[in-house]
Amino acid sequence: MFSSKNKSHFTPPVTLSRLESAGALSHAVGKAKKRIPARLAVLDEASLPEKYKYLWYLKKEPDKAVARREVFAQELFRLLIPGHTKTRLVIDERGDTFVASKHIPGYTRLPNDLTSNVNIKREWNAKLKNGTYTGLGELTTISLLLNEVDLKNGNIALNDKNQLIKFDGDWCFARLRAWSGNNITEHEIDMLPFPGNYKPYNWLGIVAENVRRPHPLLDSDISTNPRFRAEVNHALLKALILPEALIKNFIAAYIEDATEATTLYNEFTDRRNQLAAAAFKNNSFLAYLKQLKQSSSWKPTWTI
Ligand SMILES: Nc1ncnc2c1ncn2[C@@H]1O[C@H](COP(=O)(O)OP(=O)(O)O)[C@@H](O)[C@H]1O
Ligand SMILES: [Mg+2]
Repeated sequence: MFSSKNKSHFTPPVTLSRLESAGALSHAVGKAKKRIPARLAVLDEASLPEKYKYLWYLKKEPDKAVARREVFAQELFRLLIPGHTKTRLVIDERGDTFVASKHIPGYTRLPNDLTSNVNIKREWNAKLKNGTYTGLGELTTISLLLNEVDLKNGNIALNDKNQLIKFDGDWCFARLRAWSGNNITEHEIDMLPFPGNYKPYNWLGIVAENVRRPHPLLDSDISTNPRFRAEVNHALLKALILPEALIKNFIAAYIEDATEATTLYNEFTDRRNQLAAAAFKNNSFLAYLKQLKQSSSWKPTWTI
């Protein structure tokens, strides 16, 4: 069941330049493609199967357990939010561990978390509120669930559909890295995309390196914006109805060791229980459920 790729499946990675990395590079990251097997080497570039054309970002992760959790976390984002990018565990011949993230199509950076440029701020907030940019509600909800504490704008990008895509999940399940955060309560659901009493290290220009910013990038009324709330509600429902057996199988796909797998399962379940208790005290979520009951056409969207 355990699933990982060997590094020899990729071409030798080309190290990213300083310019390409958002902020200080905390890991060595290189770009690579899947290696073309000898039997296909005769084909020209255009005739190659699609999978050999994609770029991947290979990040060397010295802590193997962190790498496994990152892959699980990022794959959960992908399962719950269509459009998120594929993430794989890669191991080389020395046993070194890498996290491979498939290039986000149309990758466009977000404004810097700390920008004080009023025009950038105005345009950014307007596009989030009028639905030009989507995904903020879903990705902040799932980040809260997965105990992500490094949700800076440099770890999110716009894709070719103007959807916000979150990558770089090595600080998901932060409590397992001895980060003392807070539990999820109804206050945090209410406050999204703001972190409420949750204690991240970075969060969307609202918290930067542990410090709350007095003039955050996001307008406070995004919290009650109907489009934003609809995304939060949708993400809450999808997270809450994920079958336990699926979570267990998912974890088993990335984590061989039974004790390590149980620790992660218990941590996920603990946070999901917190999320459920909090969601059922949230009026917007309760109204959304009521509306769903009245319409029979709704179906969750999955990307398995
Ligand atoms: N899937 C991806 N698509 C496009 N660019 C990516 C992707 N994954 C990583 N990158 C690029 O690599 C940089 C570093 O990757 P990241 O996973 O954030 O590592 P770090 O932990 O060093 O911040 C990112 O800031 C981004 O520029
Ligand atoms: Mg990063």
